[in-house]
Amino acid sequence: MCGIVGYLGEKNSKKILLDGLKELEYRGYDSAGIAVLQNGEFSNYKAVGKLVNLEEKTKNYETKGFAVGIGHTRWATHGKPTELNAHPHLGESSYVVHNGIIENYAELKKELINNGTVFLSQTDTEVIVHQFEKNLQTAQTAFDAFSQTISELDGAYAVLLVTASEPDTIFFAKHGSPMLVGVNDENEKYFASSDTPLIGHCTNVNYFEDGDFGYVTSDEMMIMAQDGTKKEAIFSKLTQNKLSAQKDGYRFFMEKEIYEQSDVIADTLMGRVGDEEIIFDELDSNLFDGINEIKLCACGTSYHAAMSASYLFERYSKIKTSLEIASEFRYRSPIMSKDTLFVVISQSGETADTLETLKMAKNAGLKTLVICNVDNSSMVRLADACILTRAGIEKGVASTKAFATQVTVFWMMSLYIAKLRKSISDADISKQVSLLREIPTHVKVSDEMHERIKRLSKRYLHGHGFFFIGRDIFYPLALEGALKLKEISYLHAEGYPSGEMKHGPIALADPELFTIALLPEHLHYEKSKSNVEELSARDSTICAISSREFDKADDFIKIPTCKDYMLEFFEMMIVVQILSLEISIRLGNDVDMPRNLAKSVTVE
Ligand code: AGP
Repeated sequence: MCGIVGYLGEKNSKKILLDGLKELEYRGYDSAGIAVLQNGEFSNYKAVGKLVNLEEKTKNYETKGFAVGIGHTRWATHGKPTELNAHPHLGESSYVVHNGIIENYAELKKELINNGTVFLSQTDTEVIVHQFEKNLQTAQTAFDAFSQTISELDGAYAVLLVTASEPDTIFFAKHGSPMLVGVNDENEKYFASSDTPLIGHCTNVNYFEDGDFGYVTSDEMMIMAQDGTKKEAIFSKLTQNKLSAQKDGYRFFMEKEIYEQSDVIADTLMGRVGDEEIIFDELDSNLFDGINEIKLCACGTSYHAAMSASYLFERYSKIKTSLEIASEFRYRSPIMSKDTLFVVISQSGETADTLETLKMAKNAGLKTLVICNVDNSSMVRLADACILTRAGIEKGVASTKAFATQVTVFWMMSLYIAKLRKSISDADISKQVSLLREIPTHVKVSDEMHERIKRLSKRYLHGHGFFFIGRDIFYPLALEGALKLKEISYLHAEGYPSGEMKHGPIALADPELFTIALLPEHLHYEKSKSNVEELSARDSTICAISSREFDKADDFIKIPTCKDYMLEFFEMMIVVQILSLEISIRLGNDVDMPRNLAKSVTVE
C-alpha cells in the first residue's frame, strides 16, 4: 500500500516529510521520494529501496523557513520499482503524489502525448500532473485547473499536488483511497494517508470523504464536495498510540487485513474488468499461444489458491490444469512439456521451494507466469510474465487478503483465457464478469456476523480435532480454513473433500470431533448436505456454513444468499478467517506472529 505525506509550514520540511514516510514504512513499499517548494524553487529527491537510501540522497539538503512539501512511498502497481517511476512526479513546474489507480490513465496519456507531452515514467500517476499543467494554460486559477483535472480522473486516488504558480498552497483530492489533514495551533498543515505520521504534530484531524478536493494555505482550508459545494472540515481528536494507528484500531494486523479485503480486491479488479471481458495490460496475449496445459505450483495458502484456480480453468477456460506442491515437485523427476504454461503463485515472491520450481521450469524451456504480491521480488524478476495481486503489504503471518486477491486474479484469468480460446460463449463470460464485480461487497465483514462467530468460537477451544469439509472448489477453501486454524490456534485441523469422509475419517466421528461444513447453495448442495448428515448421525459436532438453513448442525453460520457459488466462496472465506481469528484470540495466542512460523519461508 503506498504512503502519502504533505507539509505546509515554517519547520524543517525535509525532516517532517522523511519522518512521516518512516511512519508509513509498515505499509510496505519499494521506492520513495519527496518534493519541497520554497521561495519559488523546487527540490526533489527519489530513491529505490528503503528510506535510508532517500535519507542518504538528502543528507546535504536542508530547508529553512516557510515551505510546502509532499512525499510518497510507492508499492508498484503500474511500472517497475525504479527512480523514474517513484513519486513525486514532475510536470513543468508542479509535482504530484498519488495513491490508488487511475483507471483511464491510458487514454489521458495518449491524448497528452499526441499534444506533445513527454512522459518519463510508466506510471498512471504521471498523467495527473501533466493534465493539471495542460488545464493550467487555460484556467483562471490554479485551483480551477486542479478542479478540472480531478473531474477528468476515473478510478481510486488520494492526491497531493504542489505548483510553482501557487507556492504557498497544497492542493488535495480524495476518492477511494484514504487521506487525512491535520492542524495545530501553529498554522501548520499536515497531510497523510493514515494517522501515524501526524501523531505528535497535530491535535485534530479531518478525514477526507470520497469526492473531497480543495487546497490549504497557512491560514485557509478550502474543501469542496464531489457536487461542487463548499464544505466545512469535521475535526476529530487524533489518537496518540502509533501501533494502534498502524493497525487502524484493530486488535491484530490479521484482523485489519481481513477487513481490508473489500478495498484491496477493488484494487485487484481496478482497470482489469471491462464491460464484457477481462483486461490484463501486463500480459502479452501470445503468452498462451501453443499452450495446452497450465501447471500451477506453490506452497501453503498460495497452493490452496492454485487448487481453487484449477477448478476455474477447467470449467471456464477448458484447459487441462495440473497442480504441484513446490517442495514435492522440485525433488521429483517431473516430465515437463513445452506446451505447458508454468504458473507459480506466491505472496512474497521469495519462497525458496516455489522459486526453485520456477527455475526448473525456465531451464526446461517452459513459458512461466507468476501471480505475486511483491513487484520487485525474485520470482517477479525471473518469470516471463507477472500479474500483481495488489493486496498491499500483508503483515499477518497467516495469509488472508493475499489469498483473497490470488483467487480473484485466477477467476479473472480463467475468463481471460476463455475469451482467447473461445471456450465459453461471450454471454457466459459477460455473466461471470458481472459476478466478479460483486466480490468486494461479498467480503465486507458485517459486525453482526463477526459478533456471532466470536460468540460461538468459545465452544471450539478443545476437542480432538477439526475437519473442514467441502466439495469441488470448496475443498481448497476447506484446506485453507484448516490451515488458518492450525497456524494461529495450534489446534489440529484437516481440510477434506466432503465425499471422502466415509472412506475412513468418519471413524473419528464423535462429539469431540468438530466438523466445519461448507454447504454452498449453488454447487452440489444436496450431495454435500448428505455428507454432513452422515457425520451428524454419528454425533460429530457440526458447524455448518451456508445460505440455506440447516437443522442437522449444532452450530449454523448463515451467509447472505448469493447469485453464484464463487460469491458463496468469498462469503465463506470470511467466515473461516474470522473463526480462526476469534478462536486464537480466546486461546491468548499471538495472532500476527504465531509460534514457529515466518511470513516468508526463504529457506528449504
Ligand atoms: C499461509 O497463511 C502461510 N503464511 C504460508 O502457508 C504461506 O502461504 C506459504 O509459506 C507460501 O508463502 P508465499 O505465498 O509467500 O509463497
